[in-house]
Amino acid sequence: MIVPIAWSRGAVAVLDQRLLPSRRRLLRCRRVEDLARAIEGLAVRGAPLIGIAAAYGMALGVSRSDPASLERDFQRSRERLSRTRPTAVNLFWALGLMERAFRRAAARGPGPVRRALLAEARSIHRQDALTCAAIGRHGARLLARGARVLTHCNAGMLATGGIGTALGIVYTAHRQGRIAMVYADETRPLLQGSRLTAWELRQGGVPVTVICDNMAGALMARGGVDAVLVGADRIAADGDCANKTGSYGLAVLARAHRIPFYVAAPSSTIDLDARTGGDIPIEQRRGDEIIRIRGTRIAPCGIACFNPSFDVVPHRLVTAIITEHGVIERPNRRKILHVKNLIKYVKVNC
Ligand code: MRU
Repeated sequence: MIVPIAWSRGAVAVLDQRLLPSRRRLLRCRRVEDLARAIEGLAVRGAPLIGIAAAYGMALGVSRSDPASLERDFQRSRERLSRTRPTAVNLFWALGLMERAFRRAAARGPGPVRRALLAEARSIHRQDALTCAAIGRHGARLLARGARVLTHCNAGMLATGGIGTALGIVYTAHRQGRIAMVYADETRPLLQGSRLTAWELRQGGVPVTVICDNMAGALMARGGVDAVLVGADRIAADGDCANKTGSYGLAVLARAHRIPFYVAAPSSTIDLDARTGGDIPIEQRRGDEIIRIRGTRIAPCGIACFNPSFDVVPHRLVTAIITEHGVIERPNRRKILHVKNLIKYVKVNC
């Protein structure tokens, strides 16, 4: 099991994913600012893991507070962390849970608040592990024996508090002997597919082949893909799914080749405030990420770049969304609302 984040001796320790697969280095974030930069720089990444990191960050934010500074430290930490990455709704969801825990303990002073916030962050972390396991169980049933799966970016152990969402399904199906091959899109510009997905699947003994993003169509055309399986950063109320840029293109290709396109995500990724995918804020990142690879410039100096970190797959292209509560086939507003209502009453079945 790869553990990408932990609370350790009053700091948040994160596995620096920028250096993988060449180096394994732990970053110790002692201040909220350290953690915020780690999230912005993608040392820690993946929607559920960003939520977990933010939760630990809130605990960090009050670790030196006295009664006079407690409320101010909490609000400053919240404000800083909420400015890190705009698309993954798990970040804002986790901050909301931390605010609730803070309010419940605030009158009792800094000590009880610190304990309450750390307990809440640990619970978000633990719950995510159970959520991934449940997604894995539900999703594995969708794959036939000998399945060849194409995935994009990294929605695995490196992106969550457990075995992953899309890759949680892969690991579960692999244990059941159903996986013949996983094709990992390299995922330009930051290569989460070739650096992270290929690395973690290999560690887990899952057969994996890396392809460039622009090879997916050719692979599908020659009958090499049985299912596309990706994660999500935010799912709108109508079932439109925002995920790593390139997911939309894959969904269009999958539809053209009559291949199922599955999205795996915790139900906390569903944002009912976003009516459609058009309401989901899409993070725009620096063009430098496109024109430099490991510091070397690969395009003319000063060239214009377009670098949206995510795109939106319209729900009509999504065969099913898999959450910890089960499979939502052909997602639409009615089905999404039904699942969201269910969550108010049901905890993850573990
Ligand atoms: O920019 P990243 O690496 O944070 O993007 C990650 C993704 O797009 C993942 O597919 C998504 O967050 C789901 S992770 C379970």
